[in-house]
Amino acid sequence: MSRRLPVLLSADSEEAGVARPVRLIVGDTALDGRVGAWATANGFKGQKGRLLLCPDEAGEIAEALFGIGKGFESMALRGLADRLPGGIWRLDGVPDGQADLAALAFCLGSYAFDRYTKVGTEPPARLVVADTVDVDRVLDLARSCDLVREMVDTPAADMGPLQIETVAREIAEESGATISVITGDALLEADYPAVHAVGRAAIPARAPRVIEIHWNTDRSDLPLLAIVGKGVVFDTGGLNLKAGVGMRNMKKDMGGAAHALGLARQVMRAGLAVRLVVLVPAVENAVSGDAFRPGDILSSRKGLTIEIGNTDAEGRLILADALARAGELEPDLTLDFATLTGAARIALGPDLPPLYTDDEALAADMLAASARVEDPLWRMPLWAPYSDALDSDIADLRNDSAAWAQAGSVTAALFLKHFAPGTGAWAHMDIFAWNPRGRAGWPQGGEVQAMRAAFEMLKTRYPG
Ligand code: BES
Ligand code: MN
Ligand code: ZN
Repeated sequence: MSRRLPVLLSADSEEAGVARPVRLIVGDTALDGRVGAWATANGFKGQKGRLLLCPDEAGEIAEALFGIGKGFESMALRGLADRLPGGIWRLDGVPDGQADLAALAFCLGSYAFDRYTKVGTEPPARLVVADTVDVDRVLDLARSCDLVREMVDTPAADMGPLQIETVAREIAEESGATISVITGDALLEADYPAVHAVGRAAIPARAPRVIEIHWNTDRSDLPLLAIVGKGVVFDTGGLNLKAGVGMRNMKKDMGGAAHALGLARQVMRAGLAVRLVVLVPAVENAVSGDAFRPGDILSSRKGLTIEIGNTDAEGRLILADALARAGELEPDLTLDFATLTGAARIALGPDLPPLYTDDEALAADMLAASARVEDPLWRMPLWAPYSDALDSDIADLRNDSAAWAQAGSVTAALFLKHFAPGTGAWAHMDIFAWNPRGRAGWPQGGEVQAMRAAFEMLKTRYPG
């Protein structure tokens, strides 16, 4: 995975002396002098997201103004990073306590997916940050976010189950974690029947697998954190084939796996006070003569049988086995990330992922962390009265909820709840992992959602 020059420079770097200022203009701050006249002439009134480059007497760009609008939001600086011309800059007017998040936003706004083009040659703007900012730490989090987005953006042909395994190996090795992978028919032997059933239609080179990472295992005094992610490298829908529009972006259906690996990387690199297990079922939901079928009844690791009403509800099947495996290790906290339902987007739109948990303290901690780092989440209910929608006449459960229940993201979460660990708290995030609308700082394509909030929550709970 590629990475260009780091876009942050520390206050004591050589380049700090030549940095040009970007003044953040909140509300209708009055500007005076030359710059004020230039702003007036250009109709610049601090409008949110507007950038104005200001020349000196020689006509060289000497500084820039960036409109913040009414309230300050660090993430607005993603748009700044995207539009500022190359060169060295520094920020004037970042509120106290926001310098780290503002620097991170600048990094996130500099992301470009250029693996398949040669046009990304223009050097990005670089930012000299205040001396309070821990540059390495911010760059490291940005790196994890970039990794997630690159994995999602990479076409399924180049991000199959094996490539997910490769990324997982790199992340494990980097932090001295151990990794084991069970692939293909060995999944049956190892009792991952649902993962095998969903993934077995793929060609052998893209065989299904369960990736398991362990870190800090010798520290039995520490709480055990389990992180689980849906790794469907491409979701055709299976025999219940998706129509063209619905299939178009399904390279992103491994977004949960990417988020799980990105979050695990952060947990390990920050040295949080936990033992960690990461579980990623990686499969292609493909079509072949060997594909699982509507009407089939799958067994699962938990022992529950599942009647297949729709092969396109495949994510919950592979997560069922992965969550059951997590439960065997008796975790104190389990977090899962999955591009699980289209219904989540119907409920809340692409930018606001639903958070499901029955644990009030975990919900409160997640939402507080979400607000602190401007990584939105909205709590939705594990509404028990809808559980009946998952009843089957001939199996323990069905994978497509009955139509009367409608709330597809809720019933999918209720399905997972049958398999979630019996110990500790569990939270599920039904992420979209995608920006459908391209705008400055938020290019169309892969997006990292809920991961920074989760990391912030974990940092507060388990400081290293
Ligand atoms: N991966 C999809 C969900 C999805 C679709 C996420 C579009 C983001 C954008 C999932 O596997 C799926 O197909 N879910 C079905 C479930 C249904 C068949 C019960 C859905 O949401 O339509
Ligand atoms: Mn599907
Ligand atoms: Zn899917």
